[in-house]
Amino acid sequence: MRGLVFEGAGEVLVVDGLPEPRIEAATDALVAVEAAGLCGSDLHPYLGAEPAGIGVVPGHEAVGRVLEVGAQVTAYRPGDRVLVPFSTSCSACEACRRGVTARCSRGQLFGWGPPEAPQRGLDGAQAERLRVPLADSTLVAVPDHLDEPTAVLCTDNLPTAWEAVERTGLAPGAAASVVGLGAVGLCAIAAARARGAQRIIAVDPVADRRERALQLGADVALSPEAATDTAPVTCVVEAAGTPAAQSLAVGMTAPGGTCSVIAVQTTQRFAVTAIEAYDRNLTLAFGRASVRRTLPAVLAALRTGGLASPAGVCVTHPDVPLVEGPEAYRRFAAREPGVVKMLLRP
Ligand SMILES: NC(=O)c1ccc[n+]([C@@H]2O[C@H](COP(=O)([O-])OP(=O)(O)OC[C@H]3O[C@@H](n4cnc5c(N)ncnc54)[C@H](O)[C@@H]3O)[C@@H](O)[C@H]2O)c1
Ligand SMILES: [Zn+2]
Ligand SMILES: [Zn+2]
Repeated sequence: MRGLVFEGAGEVLVVDGLPEPRIEAATDALVAVEAAGLCGSDLHPYLGAEPAGIGVVPGHEAVGRVLEVGAQVTAYRPGDRVLVPFSTSCSACEACRRGVTARCSRGQLFGWGPPEAPQRGLDGAQAERLRVPLADSTLVAVPDHLDEPTAVLCTDNLPTAWEAVERTGLAPGAAASVVGLGAVGLCAIAAARARGAQRIIAVDPVADRRERALQLGADVALSPEAATDTAPVTCVVEAAGTPAAQSLAVGMTAPGGTCSVIAVQTTQRFAVTAIEAYDRNLTLAFGRASVRRTLPAVLAALRTGGLASPAGVCVTHPDVPLVEGPEAYRRFAAREPGVVKMLLRP
């Protein structure tokens, strides 16, 4: 099989002749990948900011067709078109029953392996084929109304952004700020709009990304320097993850407000002291999004038109051949103007 392989910081290779994934448990499915997203989360190991095991196929955002199912899979059959959320979940454990499918006791993240562990992690989506554990409770059928770029956003960025906004407790009519305008932040603009934000402030150092935020309905788009002077708001999404973005996001949060930290964190400490947090009556929300739990609400909002798909604005490269994956990583990591979301195609 052909796929990308993570070989260490700055090194993603195209490899032919990878071992063919196969059904390993009766609850597995095999999926033929049609398109796989390249995500800011792939950049943390690539940029050496997050330790990760080498030899793993990266990628965790796949849309594809079921090829084969294990004996206990009942909800899907070969030929079904599916969304593969970025982590697996069982639907039955205590965390899943509370809706925290991101922290399923049996869950695994696609495309990432622990740096020094006996197991190598779960191979990801940037390959021709993908093994999906716990298929019945992980996969979601692709609704007919969904175009492919939107479908890929639905495996991660869009439900992640939806959940990030949900965690701020945004009430219709409130103002919101989004710090960081990659695909997650841009999706958060669309989600905040859909959830009734009255005014949206978007922040990113990259002018091209600010322009896209305006296209998606942000009222103002500012550089981080300019944003320090804006009036604080009660709902802030931190979708950048750097220490500077952390402190900017907290500084933009009004007393009694919530800063929803959706970026993967790679620093040991967060840029706020306990005293500052106390003095601002600050609520901080952190963590991986429970895509499997949140996706039905996002799909419903897309179907009814309550949520306008941001794919046309943020998926800048919907058709990158998988063999150009290493170059795609390089361009994405460099934040080249005009490059936001790239989809790799086997
Ligand atoms: N919690 C989850 O479940 C989840 C899911 C998906 C992605 N993520 C994380 O969300 C984050 C965003 O993902 P993405 O794909 O949009 O990544 P991305 O790298 O494309 O976007 C990050 C953006 O932050 C901007 N930025 C950097 N410093 C900034 C600053 N000081 N102020 C404002 N903006 C700044 C960058 O210019 C960039 O546009 C990443 O950390 C990713 O790992 C989390
Ligand atoms: Zn992702
Ligand atoms: Zn579970």
